[in-house]
Amino acid sequence: MALTGLFLISFLVVHVGLNACIWANDNGEMFNKAAQFMGDTIVVRIMEVGLFIGFIIHIIQGYVLESKNLGRRGKGYKINLANKGSKWYSRTMGLLGTLLLLFLIMHINHFWIHSRLGDVGSIQPLSEVIYPSNPNKHYHNLYALMIETFSGQLLVVTLYVVGCISLAYHLLHGFQSAFRTLGLHNRKYLGIVRGLGIGFSILVPLTFAMMPVSIYLKWIE
Ligand code: HEM
Repeated sequence: MALTGLFLISFLVVHVGLNACIWANDNGEMFNKAAQFMGDTIVVRIMEVGLFIGFIIHIIQGYVLESKNLGRRGKGYKINLANKGSKWYSRTMGLLGTLLLLFLIMHINHFWIHSRLGDVGSIQPLSEVIYPSNPNKHYHNLYALMIETFSGQLLVVTLYVVGCISLAYHLLHGFQSAFRTLGLHNRKYLGIVRGLGIGFSILVPLTFAMMPVSIYLKWIE
């Protein structure tokens, strides 16, 4: 779980960085170019397959671990130590992971299905991008799709924010836990990793959450 978790964390860094191009205020040009570069690069496409495999392994391992823990624990602890024993989000990693899985199903359906499997031109109103340098190739306008997905859609925006909050708590435990599992027990380094983990768990989900919120509030159009 630690290895697949760290792999998925590295994906989040790329994903959040690329998506942050929507704030360039250039009508989505930078973001679309970056997304098209990813779509056109063979190494990235191969890594995409690895990414989906990574997600599937991580999810299966998570549920196996959760059921083993429940099995060992039986009906629960005799004395409930609550937050003295561990943090609530460490004890609810299975639930947080399930919320993230539901978020992912919705999210893949919103974007990936369109961009990889849908017809170019199926997205309204600005459906495709054509560059003068390569007029024969028509690209999906993912920026337009993002604007369409979140504009005036309070329920969708709320579900994305809830997904990002689940991600924050999942990472708050998962980030430092992955390093411990891989054998990092030195007090000094563990302190650094814990600090990095807290920073990452706040910054990345907050940046993600600000994307639908910025579009909903028309900070970007
Ligand atoms: C909340 C703001 C987010 C926005 C606006 C967003 C937007 C997008 C877009 C536009 C794509 C399609 C990229 C393409 O097909 O080229 C995509 C793909 C994807 N996103 Fe997100 N995303 C967000 C958050 C997340 C989070 C939090 C996760 C994971 C926990 C995630 C996981 C994925 C995955 C697995 C894919 C498909 C893989 C791929 O395209 O290579 N996204 N996202």
